[in-house]
Amino acid sequence: MIIANWKMNKGLVQSQQFVEELKAYVEKHKVVNADIVICPPFTSLEAVSRKIAGTAIKLGAQNMFYQTAGPFTGEISGGMLKSCGCEFVILGHSERRQHFGETNLTVNKKVLKALDEGLKPIICIGENLQEHDDKLTEPVIEEQLAVALTHVSEVDIANVTVAYEPIWAIGTGKNATPHQAEGVHNFLRKKLKKMYSDEISKNARIVYGGSINPENAKELFASPSVNGGLVGGASLEVESFVKIINSTHLI
Ligand code: 13P
Repeated sequence: MIIANWKMNKGLVQSQQFVEELKAYVEKHKVVNADIVICPPFTSLEAVSRKIAGTAIKLGAQNMFYQTAGPFTGEISGGMLKSCGCEFVILGHSERRQHFGETNLTVNKKVLKALDEGLKPIICIGENLQEHDDKLTEPVIEEQLAVALTHVSEVDIANVTVAYEPIWAIGTGKNATPHQAEGVHNFLRKKLKKMYSDEISKNARIVYGGSINPENAKELFASPSVNGGLVGGASLEVESFVKIINSTHLI
């Protein structure tokens, strides 16, 4: 699964151009080895949805609120995302936690609401540089995972993707090594086994994010415990994004 998180980039015209190019590529090369999910800003969702209709490319949003409707100026509901053609929604991205005060608890509320609305959450977790240096990665992400998944049923967990995004690797050009990513993903699987079952842990979709680029993608995706990537900067250009998608069948 290769997810493009465009963050606060691309207006309508740029979004549509990108998708036209990507679509042509996917159709020409019959890309079937990866699930491709594009997460544009809210303002481009509907336009991108129209462009990808009938293709294998899927649509996701970058956030949503946990209420259904009402006096929440500036917020977007899960139902609204569904009406724009979204299948996925990124929740708890570290930039939302850092700049918009999201906590593990609000992420959990969003996860439950997204599942209730029939959306598939992509839950972001990851430690910051200080925590990484202090060797606190495991307790930090264990807490993030456990709280985010509170009251998520054994049935609903099948629709959840976990994205391990170490904050020190986001937009820094300093990706986790394949070995580090594999170690953390295996740790997360152990936790999922404890929370759910062996089977759920084995089938869980866990992707890595943080400075993925065409040069490091193949190595990062090489471990069977890494089920794909959440790509920021390198998803903004079709060429680099396609190279990352192609890394999945070089393995
Ligand atoms: P970069 O790929 O730009 O490091 O961003 C990663 C990310 O935050 C994806 O959600």
